[in-house]
Amino acid sequence: MFKKDFLWGGATAANQLEGAYQADGKGLSVADTMPGGKQRFQVIGSPEFDWEIDEEKYVYPNHRGIDHYDRFREDIALFAEMGFKCYRFSIAWSRIFPKGDEQQPNEAGLKFYDDLIDECLKYNIEPVITISHYEMPLHLAKEYGGWKNRQLITFYERFAKTVLTRYGKKVKYWMTFNEINSAFHFPALSQGMVISNGGGEMQNVFQAWHNQFVASSLAVKIAHDIDPDLQIGCMIIYATTYSIDSNPINQAANLVQNQEFNFFCTDVQVRGEYPTYTKRLYNKFGVDQNELEITEEDLEILKAYPVDYIGFSYYMSMVVDETSEETEGVSGNLLGGVKNPFLKASEWGWQIDPEGLRIAMNELYGRYQVPLFIVENGLGAIDEVQPDGTIEDNYRIDYLREHIEAMKKAVDDGVDLMGYTPWGCIDLVSASTGEMSKRYGFIYVDLDDEGNGTLDRSKKASFDWYKKVIETNGEELN
Ligand code: BG6
Repeated sequence: MFKKDFLWGGATAANQLEGAYQADGKGLSVADTMPGGKQRFQVIGSPEFDWEIDEEKYVYPNHRGIDHYDRFREDIALFAEMGFKCYRFSIAWSRIFPKGDEQQPNEAGLKFYDDLIDECLKYNIEPVITISHYEMPLHLAKEYGGWKNRQLITFYERFAKTVLTRYGKKVKYWMTFNEINSAFHFPALSQGMVISNGGGEMQNVFQAWHNQFVASSLAVKIAHDIDPDLQIGCMIIYATTYSIDSNPINQAANLVQNQEFNFFCTDVQVRGEYPTYTKRLYNKFGVDQNELEITEEDLEILKAYPVDYIGFSYYMSMVVDETSEETEGVSGNLLGGVKNPFLKASEWGWQIDPEGLRIAMNELYGRYQVPLFIVENGLGAIDEVQPDGTIEDNYRIDYLREHIEAMKKAVDDGVDLMGYTPWGCIDLVSASTGEMSKRYGFIYVDLDDEGNGTLDRSKKASFDWYKKVIETNGEELN
């Protein structure tokens, strides 16, 4: 049984749906330099990549997104029709501070989010805001070197203070950074660091994390100073991990994998201090602790301002195998790993594991005892529009149903769950591949990978299904 005031909704990110990438004074963001297509991560991950836009060579689907900037009223009306109680979106930092290091914000950018928030409130939809979701002003990456530079704490603090002050009276739920632990595998998105500006070195990744931890705690302080009732969380990717077998060597490797990927960031952000295994991590990744800039005052800030809740995304699980000589590898959601013979995978190879969500929730809640919010979950799939215009996305309904059933079990286990916002409630540009054809939505958007299409919105079969789920507070799942 879900709580009476359970927050059913959907989730998006500014850079993946707004478009209007230079409208009304917006500056370029790191996401604006990321090309579309399956080669996206290869391009960004190559040593030559230097945040340049090359329109002759690539397409840039994020520039247009799904034109939510101009169509948000229509989109929110559709969310309201589904009965959304909340809507998770992010603020494009470069709309508010186009270069990131200005003293004064861009009023036109602030006005856009005033309107967006008011539109949500018109339908009693609670906005849930991610302050920074996989983008930062390009200038901060190019001129300052991304999050490894301590000056970013000040810039982020100014940004967070600006938006929390402006919207804090209307918006109760916030998150500081999207999937902060993703930098483990790919610091380009959340830390603004690629190989050419130091993203290939774990020393920089850990320094960047530290700076982000401090910035996140300062945002918590600002939020609570504005109103102690504001709820401000961290946000991680959670990938349940299993040992391939009962061999203690693999079990121990699984424990380590869990600490490194799933728990390191939340240990700091929820408990307010670096975990006991931090030194081991530094040694393993060749990080020189003496070279890290971590002050006493920073540690006091971390301790004083932990987050109120844990937001997390859950798409898939992973398997750890240290002992086999030959293993079949898989990849998905920025992660690698070994194939799990018990699971099927999405068309993009992400291993589907609803039961793993129950485990994830118990592991997180058991460790921290703070409320959880599942702020992303869903199936990226190719949808076929039938000649009569309908879209029968029963595979998506199955995926979501099974995950909601797992959530129910975890709630029965005693986990405190605040809400559920499936990813990409309206089709949008994929973060990992820049494709439109990797769709998650209840709402179809007529746009292809090359940018052709009317941008018209239409309802998939999952639209009415999810509406019923919300209406019955998760009781009716068929
Ligand atoms: C999460 C991100 O990792 O997964 C989103 O927070 C992203 O930004 C989502 O879109 C799904 O990933 P993808 O690569 O299929 O878009």
